[in-house]
Formats: sequence, structure tokens, C-alpha cells
Amino acid sequence: MFSKDSQTRKCARQLDKMSAHVGEARRVFRECFGGTEPKIGVFAPGRVNLIGEHTDYNGGFVLPMALPLFTAIVGSPRDDEKICIITMADGADEPHRVEFEAPREGRSLTPGSPKWSNYVKGVIQHYRAGPVPGFNAVIASNVPLGGGLSSSASLEVATYTFLQQLCPDNSDPIEKALACQKAEHTFPGVPCGIMDQFISVLGKEGHALLIDCRSLEVMPLPLMDPGLAVLITNSNVRHELTGSEYPARRRQCEEAAKILGKDTLRDANLGDLEAKKGSLSEECYRRARHVIAEIERTSKAAEALKRGDYREFGTLMVESHNSLRDDYEVSCPELDELVAIVLEIPGVYGSRMTGGGFGGCTVTLLEASAAERAKELIQEKFRGSPTFYITKPSAGAGTLSL
Ligand code: GLA
Repeated sequence: MFSKDSQTRKCARQLDKMSAHVGEARRVFRECFGGTEPKIGVFAPGRVNLIGEHTDYNGGFVLPMALPLFTAIVGSPRDDEKICIITMADGADEPHRVEFEAPREGRSLTPGSPKWSNYVKGVIQHYRAGPVPGFNAVIASNVPLGGGLSSSASLEVATYTFLQQLCPDNSDPIEKALACQKAEHTFPGVPCGIMDQFISVLGKEGHALLIDCRSLEVMPLPLMDPGLAVLITNSNVRHELTGSEYPARRRQCEEAAKILGKDTLRDANLGDLEAKKGSLSEECYRRARHVIAEIERTSKAAEALKRGDYREFGTLMVESHNSLRDDYEVSCPELDELVAIVLEIPGVYGSRMTGGGFGGCTVTLLEASAAERAKELIQEKFRGSPTFYITKPSAGAGTLSL
């Protein structure tokens, strides 16, 4: 188990890291924008989902937590209507600097390249107050791009939070998350659910959030036991399938719900599914089976967490992984391997792939005292080059004091 002191040191290191990339962003801002200091600084976190995968767009439950990994934006308003943005995010496509006119009546923004700028432009276009003035800004992030930890949502929510400093709006946090989701649907064109934007806005330090994606009600669940650790392992694999596979899964779920005569799969149970098995394609049947069972698992996991029953929680995580692998078919050999390796270690409660899938990360719940051993064994046995984060639930988006 980590001593209190080493926990505190870990926390301090995370804050240092945070200020290091904010510091870099400020330096680049000074260098590129006439030696002036940025007047505004904001941040929005990435997330890890503990359980409830591919349930959000089916009106189901999800159980994510915000991470101490953030996208930060520093910047200042300009006197004209021009917007000039530089990204320092690792892995962002070229060019890293874009300039365009702020949207006005009869002048809308449209998606294009570079890809990273679509997340920003989408949010500017769908900002709920306005008109957005011109501004200069620098983006920096330590959320790994394409790692399944919501680098996209953290960029969208950071952008929205930045605009709120420039041009205040009266949206509530849920309207803010929904505007960011709309930006992702219409600019990068990914028909995502609400989980990632929601947790990036509403994350709560020391808590995972049980989100009902139908009613958008939230229940914060404490996750502060010092004897417990959440280990994220990035496989550093990025499969390019995600682009078409995600919308395809979503369509299959909608088709299955329609055949079952329900608005969404949230309204169905496994009995309803069995009764209509003959009317569904074999693939659609398995997709729906995953979603219906995963929604149930997520409610059970939340109850287990409330009781401190980590063993039960871990069992549900493993069931979730197997179902994502076999029925939903969004895992990949590297993620399956990471889960299998870590489950060999005493003190590991459970492990699963997290996020959209086809690469990215696994999340493991384990005794804090087993974390170092878990990292060692993965390093020894895993065929790839993993990156690790031992992490704590963090707060949602906010402003930085510069
Ligand atoms: C991506 C999407 C989310 C959710 C997950 C899968 O992260 O952005 O809305 O659907 O995949 O659970």
C-alpha cells in the first residue's frame, strides 16, 4: 500500500506535470503573439471509463472518472474578428497553426483540415452565446491522442470553457456538454454518445460518476480508498478501423431497438431480446446482447462500489471485457493480452478495455500494493511498448490562474 506521503508526492508530481505543459503553452504564446502574456487559461480533463462501454448512445448507464490529464488552452482576445490557434498537442496533424474569421450572421465555419482544428471550430460554431470575438490561443495537452482517454472531448470542453471566459454564456453544465457533443457530431463527424463531454465538464475530485445517459442524472460515487488503485495501461496501438466501425455499431443498436419495438436498448431486457432473436441478424443480436447486459452490469458495479465490494466490481469488469471482445467485437489482440496478463497477479480485482476500442487503453482495478508488480509483469510479458498511469478521479473543466 502507498504511504500517505508517497500518495501526496504522486499528487504533487501530477500538478507539476500539469503546470509544465501550461508553462510551455504560455512560452509559445509569448513567442508567437508579440511577447504578451495570455490573459486567459483553462483546462478540461480526459477520462477513463470504469464500466459501461458503448451504452451511452443506447440511453444506458456509464461509470467514468475524470483524469488528472488535461487539455489546457491559454490565450487573449483580439480587437478584430480573426481567430488564430496553435496546437502543441503530440500527434496532432499538420499544420499546427490555423487562422480563420470568427463566425457571424451569414458566415459559418465549416469542417476541413487539419483534423484537430475541427474539434475547436465545431465548438466555436455551436457556442451558445456570441458573437465570439477574435482571439489568439495556444493548446497544450497531456491526454494521449487516440488513446481512448477522450483527448477529443477534453479539447472540445477546453475550447468551450475558453469561450466562456471571452464571452460569458448562461448555459448549465449539461447544456455545455451537449453543445460539445453536437460539435463532435457535426465537425469531425463522429456520432459519439454523451459520456466523454459530460465527465470532462462535470468530473468530481475523488469520485467516479454514475451517469444515466437517458435522463442525464448523475450520481457521484466516492473512489478514494487509499488501499485501492486504478491503473491505466496504454497499449499504444491505434487501429484505424474506428472511423467506420463506431457509426456501424451505433446503427446496429438502433436497428435492434427498432425490431424489439423499443426507443432504445435501455428499454429492453434479455427476455425481450430472446423473444425476437429470430427477427435479428446474428450480428445484431450479439451487439444488442452486449448493450443490454452491459447496462445491467454497470448498475450492479455501481452498487458494488458503494458497498466497497471490489471483488464483485472486478468480476463485472472482466465480464464487460469479454462481452466487448466477443459480442461487440471492439477489442483487439493487444488489449486482450494486457487484460490476460494483469489478471494473473494477486491483488488485481478486474481489468477491461476502456473507451471506444480497437486499440487504446485498458483499465485495471487493483490493490494499491499490487500496482508496481502489475506494471513489471506487463512490461515483461506484453509484446508492445505500454505506457502506465496510476490515477485518481479528478475535477472537471475549469480556469487556470496564470
Ligand atoms: C467513445 C465515445 C463515447 C462512448 C465510448 C464507448 O469514447 O465518444 O460516447 O460511446 O466510445 O463507450
